[in-house]
Amino acid sequence: MFEGFPKPLVDKIPAIPIDKNLAMSTDRTAAREPKRRVHHFAMLKQRAHKIVVVTAYDYPTGMAADRGGADAVLVGDSLGMVALGFDSTIPVTLDMMVHHAAAVRRGVKRAFLIADMPFLSYKVSPEQALENAGRLVQEGGAEAVKLEGGVEIAPAVARIVAAGIPVMGHVGLIPQSVNQLGGYRVQGRQDEVAACLRSDVEALREAGAFSVVLEAMDPELCTAITRDAQIPTIGIGAGRGCDGQVLVLSDLAGFLPGGVPKFVKQYAEIHRGMEEAVRAFADDVRTGRFPEERHEY
Ligand code: KIV
Repeated sequence: MFEGFPKPLVDKIPAIPIDKNLAMSTDRTAAREPKRRVHHFAMLKQRAHKIVVVTAYDYPTGMAADRGGADAVLVGDSLGMVALGFDSTIPVTLDMMVHHAAAVRRGVKRAFLIADMPFLSYKVSPEQALENAGRLVQEGGAEAVKLEGGVEIAPAVARIVAAGIPVMGHVGLIPQSVNQLGGYRVQGRQDEVAACLRSDVEALREAGAFSVVLEAMDPELCTAITRDAQIPTIGIGAGRGCDGQVLVLSDLAGFLPGGVPKFVKQYAEIHRGMEEAVRAFADDVRTGRFPEERHEY
């Protein structure tokens, strides 16, 4: 389908021998794990080791995701909602992504760092896509970029990959197209939509994508795509059949008050801990319990 596109550069890179124990141990000591690189994703799929991806937005969250043992850290454009207070990802600009990616970069040592290309930063032309991907890599320190869409963005994916930048795809519920999808709804339940999603994943693979996120999709369809696809699938609200899972750090760690979507498992309530700490501080200041003599210089 994409004959004429330059062959992805990654094909020309010789395989690097890696640690046999590539999968994280359960008592993971992330610092001792090998640095994750693009070729590890295919190896993890081949060995049926589940791939762990977590989002991050700044230095401390990048550090937490890295030290917690994620294989990849994604500077998601969910940034707009969970860190900047917008009600969708659409207001997020390339400058914002570059700024936050650079902060995450400083906290991530071992995990593979991927940055989202924000709304309309890759759909005007393959050249525009490459220039903007280049900024995320050069200024933001990302090792790969993620783009939303399928067949229609394959030329942009091929152009970026041919320039030496690994690309992760993202299909299903693609939040940058929420206005066209008519809301945040599960995708792939009708046969025609399922067939389009399958073609999208195949087009992304052909264009050189190393992996693809499947968001809010029918779980049986995702299991079938994962079985057939030659690249790893990373699910979010896409069931147990994917090669890996990604969650938004703010959801899994409870950065914000309020509920989380059905597909999220929440492991902590950070916002509650922070609020309680501030309340205790305020109380101590108002009652004269802080500062004490030991806090003085
Ligand atoms: O922006 C983001 O956080 C994402 C994940 C939900 C995959 O794209």
